[in-house]
Amino acid sequence: MSQIRQSIVIYQCQTGKLETTETDCPIPRVLLSAGTQLAADNVRGRIPYCEGAFMPKEPWREPTPAESKLLWTQEAPPPHSGIGIVRLPSDIAALFAASGIASATTPLQVAELKEGEKCRQALDKLIEYFKPFCLSDAPPTISGMGGRQPGLSTATIDNKRGCRNGLHIDNWDGLPLAQKQQATNRICVNLGRESRYFLFVNLTEMDIFEMLECPKSGFYKPWTRQLTNEFMKRYPDYPVVKLRIAPGEAYIAPTENMIHDASTAEMQYLDVKVMMRGYYRIPE
Ligand SMILES: [Fe+2]
Repeated sequence: MSQIRQSIVIYQCQTGKLETTETDCPIPRVLLSAGTQLAADNVRGRIPYCEGAFMPKEPWREPTPAESKLLWTQEAPPPHSGIGIVRLPSDIAALFAASGIASATTPLQVAELKEGEKCRQALDKLIEYFKPFCLSDAPPTISGMGGRQPGLSTATIDNKRGCRNGLHIDNWDGLPLAQKQQATNRICVNLGRESRYFLFVNLTEMDIFEMLECPKSGFYKPWTRQLTNEFMKRYPDYPVVKLRIAPGEAYIAPTENMIHDASTAEMQYLDVKVMMRGYYRIPE
């Protein structure tokens, strides 16, 4: 079994936490997979996996105390190597609740509801709320909002290829490895009625590059899907972290610098979320 290394860490931000607390949830905040494996899903009505895609390997287990110590931090981490969990302030959560978005049952309903007055007000407030944490001059913008069907081990669809990516690293910025510390990160808010799950490998691209013993010339080249998949082939028992994000919570994560995806496998209802890509610091 690959020992989990210390690199990308999780931080529970204190902002908004005192206003609204999550009701006791029996599901652990973090679970670890037995590693990764080639992805397969032949269930009718689901978009198939792209060829060569990877998914987490079951069973899931709770981390040991030593692993938890490596995964969590007590101080706000830097954006390129940290994940922040943020609880929305109660007034914004109330606006979203009034919009009815959590009860949407189809992606089309989400698309309709997001144009409604209540939802637009909530989104404006959301942008306002994250403005102080935005490190660029440009204000935060909504980069996507939608609903994904439940029951998917990994949920992201590669629209160009028309199949599910599996565990992947985003490449919206197209930066070479040497500049990945300056890449954008992502806020993703759970607007649904149940917990959703963020999957990730707690290693930066640079860690993976070193573990694969890649030639130094690769330092100045864009990252490739082949390198991501090569890591999962070479380290098939390196665990994937499954981080639970409760309704009314958001995560901030460096998705251009880490292997990740979302999972709706444990969900029963539509996975409704809103995303904002940008340069965000992780709040205290
Ligand atoms: Fe992604």
